[in-house]
Amino acid sequence: MEGFKIRLLLTVCIFLSIVNANRTVFINPNNPWQVFEGWGTSLCWWANMFGGFPDVRDKALDLVFDLNKGLGLNVIRYNIGGGDDPSHHHMRIGGNVPGFLPCKTCSYNWTSDANQRWVLFAAKERGADIFEAFSNSPPYWMTNSGCSSGGHLFSNNLNSNYYDAYADYLTEVVKWYKEQGLTFRTLEPFNEPTERYWKYFGYQEGCSYICSVMNIITKKVGEYLNKKGLSNETSISAFDEHIIDEEIYTESCIDNDAKSYIGQYNTHAYGGTQRMQLFNISKQDNKRLWMSELGLYSSKNMSTSINLSEAILNDMRNLKPVAWIYWQVIEHAPNGNDGNDWGLIGADFSNSTTSLDKRLSFYGFAQYTKFIRPGYQIISSNDNDTLAAFDANSKTLVLVCTNKKHISDVWKINVSMFNISSFTAFRTSNNNETLNLLPNIWNITGGILTYLSPANSITTWNFSLAIANFTQ
Ligand SMILES: *[C@@H]1O[C@H](CO)[C@@H](O)[C@H](O)[C@H]1NC(C)=O
Ligand SMILES: *[C@@H]1O[C@H](CO)[C@@H](O)[C@H](O)[C@H]1NC(C)=O
Ligand SMILES: *[C@@H]1O[C@H](CO)[C@@H](O)[C@H](O)[C@H]1NC(C)=O
Ligand SMILES: *[C@@H]1O[C@H](CO)[C@@H](O)[C@H](O)[C@H]1NC(C)=O
Ligand SMILES: *[C@@H]1O[C@H](CO)[C@@H](O)[C@H](O)[C@H]1NC(C)=O
Ligand SMILES: *[C@@H]1O[C@H](CO)[C@@H](O)[C@H](O)[C@H]1NC(C)=O
Ligand SMILES: *[C@@H]1O[C@H](CO)[C@@H](O)[C@H](O)[C@H]1NC(C)=O
Ligand SMILES: *[C@@H]1O[C@H](CO)[C@@H](O)[C@H](O)[C@H]1NC(C)=O
Ligand SMILES: *[C@@H]1O[C@H](CO)[C@@H](O)[C@H](O)[C@H]1NC(C)=O
Ligand SMILES: *[C@@H]1O[C@H](CO)[C@@H](O)[C@H](O)[C@H]1NC(C)=O
Ligand SMILES: *[C@@H]1O[C@H](CO)[C@@H](O)[C@H](O)[C@H]1NC(C)=O
Ligand SMILES: *[C@@H]1O[C@H](CO)[C@@H](O)[C@H](O)[C@H]1NC(C)=O
Repeated sequence: MEGFKIRLLLTVCIFLSIVNANRTVFINPNNPWQVFEGWGTSLCWWANMFGGFPDVRDKALDLVFDLNKGLGLNVIRYNIGGGDDPSHHHMRIGGNVPGFLPCKTCSYNWTSDANQRWVLFAAKERGADIFEAFSNSPPYWMTNSGCSSGGHLFSNNLNSNYYDAYADYLTEVVKWYKEQGLTFRTLEPFNEPTERYWKYFGYQEGCSYICSVMNIITKKVGEYLNKKGLSNETSISAFDEHIIDEEIYTESCIDNDAKSYIGQYNTHAYGGTQRMQLFNISKQDNKRLWMSELGLYSSKNMSTSINLSEAILNDMRNLKPVAWIYWQVIEHAPNGNDGNDWGLIGADFSNSTTSLDKRLSFYGFAQYTKFIRPGYQIISSNDNDTLAAFDANSKTLVLVCTNKKHISDVWKINVSMFNISSFTAFRTSNNNETLNLLPNIWNITGGILTYLSPANSITTWNFSLAIANFTQ
């Protein structure tokens, strides 16, 4: 056994000396990028289930929103349910998010959606502080198809008789929550409106729109926010397109009057290449920019964490959003199944005492969320697999480095611009490491941190600085 271990070690050493390349990285605080406001998640299906699970919901909420016990997410997208025709049964488990207005002549039912609401307020108690409300579909009775999962043949589904009713509905919900002590900073009337993904009898709420209708709805929602005295605190976010290039297209087809009501552009990042263009457009239009949705299939090994990290890096470095939001942090995965859903945590939505299976990707995401905190300044690093953030208040420098290669790599990180007094490092890897605190064995010599990064790993460095200033 010992002999085997030694042979193994020797093999590993020889292997490393052959394949190691030295990667040099320079961290430049004099080139600041975006000031970050947080990591987030959308509530919807998982919250619609977990809010009704008193035995496990606190534990689940700790894992997602509490900084000490879990990811510490602080940005929340709350789903204003439309509500489907009660005679329909085609939604995924958790997908039938209740609406507040069951029919045209009904009055608002504010006891509706108690589960998702419980999660919303429990997240707030745990530190969540940025809230967006968004809609996947108008109530079914406002739609052309009479179904809140979409139109026949993926068609435009908001009935033109209900444009005002829809704007009134969304803003009435925002107004009611404000009266309950929760202010939505943004209200998003659309979700992936151009993708043509939403169909009659589909498995979740969805609604397609053509551009001219989005233009009308944006103005109407803006006018209703004004009329109800909500627009000082709540602006419109739009358009939550599936793909970055689609988001650019939709923004270009909206008129300036509609744009004047928009405070924030939201894009999903399931595809598209024009990240820098969208950053530029948002800047020109003076809109805050969010990467408001991405979800990735889970895996038993580091594959999902590496892909998630590469997605975060690509977005944070090129799109430069101020918030980055994972789709469903918890997903339905009965029998401990891992690989068929997008959850960072797997659970059984049909079991109110379900166990919570933290996947490796939970830790992969935690490598970012627990360290790069709201208010941190993202700064430049000349390496596509490194994200750097600086906080003058707490005198902290954070580096998250991803080795996506299937071999280990020597990193030489130039941190000479910073006056470092101490640091800790954490790693998630295939080698049974789940945000493990690493022994403090690396010295910084001449401003260079030398680090042997294992294959398929993510490492976070948390540096305490002696002084908040850096070399100019
Ligand atoms: C990497 O750096 C080490 C230590 O500085 C050096 O011995 C080695 O030759 C370098 N390897 C390459 C491929 O440059
Ligand atoms: C309001 O919603 C609650 C929760 O779904 C439901 O139990 C109740 O029957 C609804 N009230 C009306 C008047 O529809
Ligand atoms: C909105 O802000 C303006 C300017 O500060 C103020 O005059 C107005 O009263 C505010 N409206 C509401 C509804 O709070
Ligand atoms: C974005 O704007 C910058 C500064 O104006 C410009 O240098 C750059 O070429 C633009 N990039 C794209 C992709 O439009
Ligand atoms: C994950 O496992 C798959 C299948 O076993 C393998 O092909 C892949 O290389 C692994 N990836 C990582 C990052 O460990
Ligand atoms: C990660 O991305 C690679 C490259 O796109 C892909 O082949 C792999 O299947 C992805 N892993 C998972 C778990 O989806
Ligand atoms: C529900 O989950 C708990 C905790 O994992 C487990 O003990 C119980 O057997 C599960 N119940 C069912 C019906 O699967
Ligand atoms: C780093 O990313 C930029 C922007 O996407 C790209 O142009 C460049 O080629 C990448 N560099 C490497 C070494 O992959
Ligand atoms: C580290 O960066 C500083 C500042 O740019 C530079 O003066 C120094 O030469 C770099 N060190 C190495 C070893 O490249
Ligand atoms: C770094 O901080 C120490 C302690 O405050 C100070 O003595 C030293 O001069 C500083 N070095 C630089 C380069 O600022
Ligand atoms: C991972 O760690 C756990 C707990 O320390 C141990 O039981 C398990 O055997 C380890 N797995 C591997 C692949 O090293
Ligand atoms: C780091 O420096 C300390 C004191 O300067 C020394 O005791 C230790 O051996 C060094 N560690 C490594 C890995 O070089």
